[in-house]
Amino acid sequence: MKLNFTLNHQPQSLEISATMSVLELLRERLNLSACKEGCGEGECGACSILVNDKLVNSCLLASAQLEGAEVMTLEGLRETDKGRCLIEALLEAKGVQCGFCSPGMVLALYALLNENRYPTDDQIREALSGNLCRCTGYGMIIDAAHIALK
Ligand code: FES
Ligand code: FES
Repeated sequence: MKLNFTLNHQPQSLEISATMSVLELLRERLNLSACKEGCGEGECGACSILVNDKLVNSCLLASAQLEGAEVMTLEGLRETDKGRCLIEALLEAKGVQCGFCSPGMVLALYALLNENRYPTDDQIREALSGNLCRCTGYGMIIDAAHIALK
């Protein structure tokens, strides 16, 4: 089937298998490797992307569902001022260790701050609850959100 959508502000028109996951589409067809395959079943958030500004697990989404959508991955977000600010905040707070969860964390924080400019710690924890990190204990990632808000 033909799929038309916008990826990191660039229009895309691709011939795809309708059942291919968006994670496969991004990583294998489009060579965008920031989103990762962790669990592959919607539990870890490593594959997070933004679809129409909402945080989505790309491993659970069929490519056909992207028709007409605006998709943002870390590759696109890091070209924006807000994206750069969040990445720098995460690095400053030492919220990046192995880095496997980091793209998803940046996108989750971006989605939160877009909706709520002054989140509480509880709201930050809630926003990150679908993104697992095995390294940092989350405190440093919450600190990053506060640094980005300054
Ligand atoms: Fe998609 Fe874990 S790989 S949620
Ligand atoms: Fe390693 Fe989060 S930094 S999983």
